[in-house]
Amino acid sequence: MNKKKRAGIKACDFVKDKMIVGLGTGSTAFYLIEELGKRKLDIKVVATSNQTKKLALDFGLNLLELEEVDHIDLTIDGVDEIDPSFNAIKGGGGALLYEKIVATNSSKVIWIMDDSKLKDALGEFYLPVEVIEYGHNFAFNKFKKLGLNPKIRTKDDKVFKTDSNNVIIDLYLEKPIDIKKVKAILNNTAGVVEDGLFLNVCDLIVVGYDDKVEVIENKGKK
Ligand code: A5P
Repeated sequence: MNKKKRAGIKACDFVKDKMIVGLGTGSTAFYLIEELGKRKLDIKVVATSNQTKKLALDFGLNLLELEEVDHIDLTIDGVDEIDPSFNAIKGGGGALLYEKIVATNSSKVIWIMDDSKLKDALGEFYLPVEVIEYGHNFAFNKFKKLGLNPKIRTKDDKVFKTDSNNVIIDLYLEKPIDIKKVKAILNNTAGVVEDGLFLNVCDLIVVGYDDKVEVIENKGKK
């Protein structure tokens, strides 16, 4: 079994009847959603992207819009890289905005991954920044001037658009990322909607290896 599938299946053990569950986006989340479909639990789900909405329906899950629920018991999502303090980068799939809204409004957050996502520090992966289309060239030029190595994300030779019709500027930063500095710049840039830094958001991680799966608790989260 592949590592991502191992992690996705294991994470389903944390899902209990009557829960409202936030479903992440990406290739690891796929295995989670597939397995939840098989388990036929009495749950309701909300999705972090249009792609995940479709999967949830395809696998027969009881899908609600986020605006229809008043709480989320548990969210399970993938991650692009994570450091030993449980700080992470997400958004490789472009779903960072919905993922952050859902995760930060969940009672519990679990991230699922293969072991390649575990890093000693953040910065090997680019940092996705979602900006509105209007004037995104100004944000881009500012990031460039400040040495953040920005690149506008494209797909099939066209500018990539998020589910909210925004643009993503990926920042190719130096490792380790100076989180404080980057956050200050992003907070002071008009048009920035969200960034892919998820700082100490998860409660535990489920890591798939070739021959085992590991559950690691984030003891630093209150
Ligand atoms: C989606 O925008 C991302 O945050 C994904 O959760 C992340 O890219 C992990 O993706 P994989 O599970 O496909 O590696």
